Amino acid sequence: MKFFVDTAKLEEIKKAEAYGILDGVTTNPSLMAKVGIKGRPNILKHYKAICDIVGDNVSAEVISTDYKGIMKEAHELAEIDTKIVVKVPMIPEGVKAIKTLSDEGIRTNCTLVFSAGQALLAAKAGASYVSPFIGRIDDISSDGMKLIRELVVIFENYDFETEILAASIRHPMHIVDCALVGADVVTCPLSVIEQAFNHPLTDIGLRNFLADHEAGQK
Ligand code: E4P
Repeated sequence: MKFFVDTAKLEEIKKAEAYGILDGVTTNPSLMAKVGIKGRPNILKHYKAICDIVGDNVSAEVISTDYKGIMKEAHELAEIDTKIVVKVPMIPEGVKAIKTLSDEGIRTNCTLVFSAGQALLAAKAGASYVSPFIGRIDDISSDGMKLIRELVVIFENYDFETEILAASIRHPMHIVDCALVGADVVTCPLSVIEQAFNHPLTDIGLRNFLADHEAGQK
């Protein structure tokens, strides 16, 4: 399973990369706004800075919602670096753009996916990734993991090459559940990746090992 970090903050991306477990980065317009980058040239520069930190798979999202606008932005983003994956919203104009981009050999990530029907359309159009938002589904008292389970079966049934990128991850059990059902990728805030390191028995065990070592040296 691939691990992506879901942030636009360079310091967080560097920290995740330094752990040696990172396969990519996802951003979205809200995450970019949080970093406070203003103006198109600076936004593009920021994506380049992200590409310079990680090995591959940097999802950069378009703002346009019409086919022509999405295509223009997608070409601009894809020119930044070969690591860029163009993130396109799950709307009819977005699916049309995904089909053209896929035919052109430009990788895409279909975002804001909340149903199996949506994911199926994105996969048919040739999306490299689909991003089901499991946390946001859980937030409305529904079952985000159920959607991941459905997508694993559907994509296997038809040998789709599209990868399931589980997004909107809220806690380490989302990561484990995604791994159990066979999601291809999880994209997590750095805080959730760091939570996954923790276990109280590890802390107690390490404290005792070090104390015993010290005592043995006396
Ligand atoms: C995924 O690509 C999105 O950026 C992200 O996972 C959304 O997460 P949120 O629901 O916590 O905003």
